[in-house]
Amino acid sequence: MLDVHGLGKVYEGSGRRTEAVRDLTFSVAAGELVCLVGPSGCGKTTLLKCVGGLLAPTAGEVRLAGRTVDGPPPGMAFVFQEYGRSLLPWMRVGQNVELPLKQKRLSRERRRALVADALESVGLADAAGAYPWQLSGGMQQRVAIARALAYEPEVLLMDEPFAAVDAQTRAELEDLVRRLWRERGITILFVTHDIDEAVYLGERVLVLSASPTVVQQQLKVDLPVERDQLHTRVDPRFAELRTRVYEQVQAAKLGR
Ligand SMILES: Nc1ncnc2c1ncn2[C@@H]1O[C@H](COP(=O)(O)OP(=O)(O)OP(=O)(O)O)[C@@H](O)[C@H]1O
Ligand SMILES: [Mg+2]
Repeated sequence: MLDVHGLGKVYEGSGRRTEAVRDLTFSVAAGELVCLVGPSGCGKTTLLKCVGGLLAPTAGEVRLAGRTVDGPPPGMAFVFQEYGRSLLPWMRVGQNVELPLKQKRLSRERRRALVADALESVGLADAAGAYPWQLSGGMQQRVAIARALAYEPEVLLMDEPFAAVDAQTRAELEDLVRRLWRERGITILFVTHDIDEAVYLGERVLVLSASPTVVQQQLKVDLPVERDQLHTRVDPRFAELRTRVYEQVQAAKLGR
């Protein structure tokens, strides 16, 4: 579904040159949920922006279903790191969720139905008429997820979407992502700096090195598909996997 080949990104401007991503190659199969984990500043956001066609790579390429990505492709949706800045404060929740749908040629009824269904899926059916700033942080992030879902993407890119919410909300949102992934068969690329989160969510974890970034290691998460916060996190296999990823992340930080 998604092929990233030899991807590199160098930022240049105002006399500064930053090589954020050096040489990334990996692929994601249709319907897979892959987590990317790497230290802060290693180029995770840069990578996702290149994958989503929001930023042009300086080397290599990204292919979606065999076609080179050179701008935001129609079948892709993004959930950003900073939800506070991604929702429009002057629009109601329902309007925020509906906004990207206006690019698609859909009837008004169809748009309304998609918005209602997406808000229902994230447990916010009754918040459509509220403004984003009237909601808690976790609720705002659910709105951002609903907006991505309503768009009916084939591929969903999520950039540390839960970094700014409290631990309990985060656990709920993680379960929400697993549930939506299973129900809707979306291909998900989920970026996080949290090792436990990567292992809990992913079917596969890619460990990124420190900037300039390469893929340090890949790990298959052979935990049952059915996961829950109570049992999965105390599963000995979970502990083993998180230790393996932790070691890799440490090695990546030291540049080994
Ligand atoms: N627009 C930009 N112009 C110049 N340099 C940039 C730009 N965006 C990012 N960088 C640099 O590229 C590197 C990677 O940044 P990026 O935001 O991709 O990292 P990240 O892994 O997402 O970090 P975090 O975990 O803090 O979100 C950093 O050194 C950063 O300073
Ligand atoms: Mg980032």
